Amino acid sequence: MENKSLISINDYSKEEILHVLDLAGEFEQNPTQTILSGKVIATLFFEPSTRTRLSFESAVNRLGGKIIGFSDSASSSATKGESLKDTIKTVSNYSDLIVMRHPLEGSARYASEVAMVPVVNAGDGANQHPTQTLLDLYSIKKTQKTLENLNIFIVGDLKYGRTVHSLLMAMARFNATFYFVSPKELRIPQEYKLFLDQHGLKYYEMTDFKDTISEADIMYVTRVQKERFSDPIEYEKTKNAYVLRNKMLENTKSNLKILHPLPRVNEINTDVDDNEKAYYFTQALNGVYTRQSILSLILGLKN
Ligand code: CP
Repeated sequence: MENKSLISINDYSKEEILHVLDLAGEFEQNPTQTILSGKVIATLFFEPSTRTRLSFESAVNRLGGKIIGFSDSASSSATKGESLKDTIKTVSNYSDLIVMRHPLEGSARYASEVAMVPVVNAGDGANQHPTQTLLDLYSIKKTQKTLENLNIFIVGDLKYGRTVHSLLMAMARFNATFYFVSPKELRIPQEYKLFLDQHGLKYYEMTDFKDTISEADIMYVTRVQKERFSDPIEYEKTKNAYVLRNKMLENTKSNLKILHPLPRVNEINTDVDDNEKAYYFTQALNGVYTRQSILSLILGLKN
């Protein structure tokens, strides 16, 4: 993993994924260290972010490293017409590792091909968000005590949700059964169903979860991704397709946990927040430990 960019969750083997999670557990026990002393991490966010950017920055700060970068591309020379290639080559000279979020699918892979330092994809359009997936897996393993043979419900925007696409590919390694719950306009794309077919995994597609929620080990709720719609009328039609409410969690498994990559809009009512099955804020905290693990492995500071 040393010096290797992380662009897609498929860049890591099952063993490497499990190693990231084990090391994240060690960072959870001891999150404040000095192993990144002397290292400079660049965070280039061409799209808005709260959790990904700040948890990366918290991870670096707690390990004694330094951060450079921007949270708004409007403050970078991209607004003067500088190409992504030139930006990445330049920032490679200033840093030991680049964390990048960008609206274009494939931009992170391209950046990794022109960079002189490893690149970590913090989300490229509707494509992939591998570090989110690693923290999701950490959260699932921590709450379920296993990653194997789970019933994973994924609810909401399965078409544009990059966290959905990365999670599906990762959980396919662990013999998950998937329940895809979405409005028909936002169904899981065909390529992901083909992927599951090729791996011999079971999945069900549905537009409602009320008759099946009692089967769920994990319910992964997602926001309808307004920023990916070219037609605002389509967004308006689907934006409130699902609202999870506390009373819907009666008669669910005792081990069920509700996950959400956040931010949420309306899809989880706030009356769920105090239910012991709600895990999304702890999930966001787990992002710090998981990203500490990822950074230290790529920088060769842990093995
Ligand atoms: N989960 C996630 O990617 O959140 P942010 O957009 O706030 O980074």
